[in-house]
Amino acid sequence: MTLPAAPGLRGLAVVLSVTVAAVVWRRRGQPGAAPFALLMLAAGEWAGLALLEHAALAPGTKVVFAALEYPGIMAVAPPWLGTALYLSGVGVLGGADPTPLAFALTGVVFAAGLFRRRLFDLVPVARHALIESMADGVLVLDAEHRVLDINPSARALLGLSSAPIGARAEVVLAAWPAVVALAVGGEATETDAQGETPTGPRELHARIMPLRDAGGRSRGRLLVLGDVTERRRTEDALRQSEKLASLAQLLAGVAHELNNPLSVVIGHATLLRRELGNAPGAARVERIAAAAERCARIVTNFLSVARRRAPERASTDVNRVLREAVALLAYQLELDNVTVLFDLGADLPLIRADGHQLQQVVMNLVANAQQAMGEHEGSRQLLVTSRLDAGRGRVTFSVADTGPGIPIALRSRVFEPFFTTKPVGIGSGLGLSACRGIVEAHEGVIEIGDRPGGGAVVRVELPVGEPPTSAAATGPVVEAELIRGQRILVVDDEPTAGDLLREMLEADGQRVEVAAHGKAALDRLAEAPFDLVISDFKMPLLDGAGLYSQLAMREPRLRERFIFLSGDTLSAETRRFIERSGVPILEKPFDAAGVRRLVQRLLRRA
Ligand SMILES: Nc1ncnc2c1ncn2[C@@H]1O[C@H](COP(=O)(O)OP(=O)(O)OP(=O)(O)O)[C@@H](O)[C@H]1O
Ligand SMILES: [Mg+2]
Repeated sequence: MTLPAAPGLRGLAVVLSVTVAAVVWRRRGQPGAAPFALLMLAAGEWAGLALLEHAALAPGTKVVFAALEYPGIMAVAPPWLGTALYLSGVGVLGGADPTPLAFALTGVVFAAGLFRRRLFDLVPVARHALIESMADGVLVLDAEHRVLDINPSARALLGLSSAPIGARAEVVLAAWPAVVALAVGGEATETDAQGETPTGPRELHARIMPLRDAGGRSRGRLLVLGDVTERRRTEDALRQSEKLASLAQLLAGVAHELNNPLSVVIGHATLLRRELGNAPGAARVERIAAAAERCARIVTNFLSVARRRAPERASTDVNRVLREAVALLAYQLELDNVTVLFDLGADLPLIRADGHQLQQVVMNLVANAQQAMGEHEGSRQLLVTSRLDAGRGRVTFSVADTGPGIPIALRSRVFEPFFTTKPVGIGSGLGLSACRGIVEAHEGVIEIGDRPGGGAVVRVELPVGEPPTSAAATGPVVEAELIRGQRILVVDDEPTAGDLLREMLEADGQRVEVAAHGKAALDRLAEAPFDLVISDFKMPLLDGAGLYSQLAMREPRLRERFIFLSGDTLSAETRRFIERSGVPILEKPFDAAGVRRLVQRLLRRA
């Protein structure tokens, strides 16, 4: 007999034959008749069920169960044979029916076949391997909350060197009381919990499932512990940066609005201070200037933290940045009786850096030092140092104070945005965060240390960068060497900013006119010659870019004598335009020294 080739059909044949051997054939009991003529066909009780079962299994499990069919076929043969022998009258067991014996043989053959194939053994093996290699910790507890099983991840998570089989859950999970409380409760549930592990504080997501027997009685619990520390950290960072991004958008607008009035306050305060000299009222003006400077610092810090801007690199004299930044805070330092000491390396080269951003860094560090010493008893000394590390092509500078110092535990946190230990109105927690952003954008390093004898030292290390390609950098402008009497056209639609620039430049002896937009500026330039143009970017009728392009054609001489004013809302496109043109930018809020430096630099150009 050839069996059908398809495993499903082959199996069907097997099942049918089992049924036939066991229950289908009955004897009619007429002695003497030919053996097979006495048989009648009748479906046994289980035949239908066997057929159904096989039909359900066959399509999906052909491959797996094909392997089982061979022992099946072998097992079916003996009862068949026994029945046939008995019916045909061949006396084997002294005339007795050998079928029951054949069934016993079948059982042995079938069991041996299954055992040899080990087919179903794979499933528990796979389940075990899965649980052993899972990243999640798995614990099985019995009804008394004792550990029955634990996988390696759970052991690592709980810092256990061996499997605590038999130990109570309260002991094994001592650091996670919230998980224990739920685990003994008996309901299916899940929770997040924080606790200490041998590798530091961690956050777990625990799932608890009751294990019930067939009668529905609770026999224990299954605990699955996922370590979600990193995921939560990433989520927090994402939330933080999303928060910052939306804040940044809002602030870009606000900052733009604030920069103009701030320019006016700082600018006029500077001019007034110069006028007053030591006259009464000078101290008040200093206070106004200091407060406005703090406002400006908050705005700039916020903007640098919220959207990191690539540094606009030029040749920069680090020593000068240090001196100027301290000078800008001289008044507050003096009020607090702080002695300032400089120890600046004489051999420092110019470095490729954004002088404006570096000044922001130093001012933040000096402001922090001054605030730290203000709270502190004892001597108040600010030490500003710079050095060249010629071997590594790096310039370092540091700002040290005699305040209380920064506790080691806080040293990584102080760089986080909004982290502050100061009361509202004194600190916004953005200073060091902005500093780090700027220093890292310069491929530099910023770190905190201790000053011998107490106090904090903040050290900044910056690469020197490519040697300067132009003689753009200049030393401090000495009053006696000022180029005066130049005709300068200021173009700004904001009258307060325009007037302030006019006053600052006039104080240096320049002859200044103000135009309200690019179109008016072109008209004026057509009527009279000018030596320099300072123009805002956003203006009605003709904006700064338009004015520059037209002027570049009409009066190429002025291409080198042009300055853009910026209020920090320049689009990427505008920035690219400015980069291409090489026109320097005067950032708002500007101060008299910055204006003078830039203007004198351009006037010195041939
Ligand atoms: N020189 C220092 N001495 C002691 N603690 C300091 C020093 N510099 C910074 N810190 C600590 O670091 C924290 C963060 O400083 P950061 O400059 O980022 O923010 P802030 O000074 O609090 O506020 P902001 O700079 O925005 O006005 C401070 O609140 C302070 O606790
Ligand atoms: Mg600060």
